[in-house]
Amino acid sequence: MTHKHKTQVCIIGSGPSGLLLAQFLAQAGIDTIVLDRRDRAYIEGRIRAGVLEQGTVAALEDAGVADRLYAEGLRHDGFDLAFDGTRHRIDLVGLTGKSVMVYGQTEVTRDLFSAREKQGQTFFFNVENVVPTDLKSDKPIVRFRQNGEDHTISCDYIAGCDGFRGVSRAAIPSDVLKTFERIYPFGWLGILVEKPPVSDELIYANHARGFALASMRSKTRSRYYIQCDVADDVALWSDDRFWEEFAARLGPDTAASLQTGTSFEKSIAPLRSFVAEPMRYGNLFLAGDAAHIVPPTGAKGLNLAVADIRMLSRALITHYNASNDIYLDTYSETMLKRVWKVERFSWQLSTLMHQFPENSPFEKRMQRAEFDYITSSEAASKVIAENYVGLPLE
Ligand code: APR
Ligand code: PHB
Repeated sequence: MTHKHKTQVCIIGSGPSGLLLAQFLAQAGIDTIVLDRRDRAYIEGRIRAGVLEQGTVAALEDAGVADRLYAEGLRHDGFDLAFDGTRHRIDLVGLTGKSVMVYGQTEVTRDLFSAREKQGQTFFFNVENVVPTDLKSDKPIVRFRQNGEDHTISCDYIAGCDGFRGVSRAAIPSDVLKTFERIYPFGWLGILVEKPPVSDELIYANHARGFALASMRSKTRSRYYIQCDVADDVALWSDDRFWEEFAARLGPDTAASLQTGTSFEKSIAPLRSFVAEPMRYGNLFLAGDAAHIVPPTGAKGLNLAVADIRMLSRALITHYNASNDIYLDTYSETMLKRVWKVERFSWQLSTLMHQFPENSPFEKRMQRAEFDYITSSEAASKVIAENYVGLPLE
């Protein structure tokens, strides 16, 4: 027997993209079903970046999920770039009039789950064999299995919010879909530790031994990263080895205030740039990691996803409440323009801040010259600041 369901928008994926879209649509009285191949505990356990642009904060406020963010988030008015131990502050507020908010993506996801739970909206977790079909018809269908039983959802639109490894993007015919990718020749080893951060603001450091990032989750919890071999096993990285390497890359002046301790999370993530075009096929719309990936330098992943959802929710609400498809029709083009600019920033900051195995002494001098230029030119610092605080939605 097949269980048949109906909804207006079927949302595949219950990460931040899917959850935020569901929230905006619920506020506008539009019915959604959200499905995910994992469960809530697993999704809430994923650790990702934690720097929110003002536009992202505004979106979460509009969605009614910003209370805890305002209570617990840390406003940051600047951050540091460092080269071989020399630090240069990018004064975000002075250069752009804007700041960013440090608040973990894990917390954003939790806040969104609680909001949807309160509304009693439909979720299907632990689903398998999800297949979006009939994408060009006005009643597309999503098939899936759950607990050994078949389900179909008939809907008006499908939102592919199922991340980089999801099925939505793959449902677009290969003669339509174009993808662009760059894989970086290193990974990031990240740890969480219950110690106050080494500095009040984030430090992105390029050192001859490799990149390091000092970030935080709160005034008492630090999130630190170092560039490593992507093939490394975390077991190779004892806490002692991590601290030694991290301190060396920050340089002695900064490392003097470093408080080390036992890490309670340690993982290695690859770095990738990726864009899929178009972000719409028939009545399927892609958003977030399903459509694009950025390397974490600059923390744009979640912010890009939220920008997509701001536009996609506006587009769907305008369709249902004003019978106007203008935003649905321009969604892919509008977002891709923005996506590529953010891809460019994430790629440039990654290129500036890491040690690439293939770099010759010439390229190393170029990185150094770029850093010196940034430290001596307000215009160059402003370019970084303007991108870091977030480009406008359109
Ligand atoms: N069927 C159903 N759900 C799926 C499938 C599938 N075949 N494949 C993946 N999913 C689910 C995943 O389990 C996950 O919960 O889709 C969700 C996608 O969530 P994310 O990967 O978090 O992607 P997104 O919501 O777009 O969030 C973007 O997350 O990766 C970071 O840096 C990124 O911060 C950005 C944000
Ligand atoms: C993080 O806190 O995890 C973080 C912060 C900034 C980045 C990437 C990750 O650019």
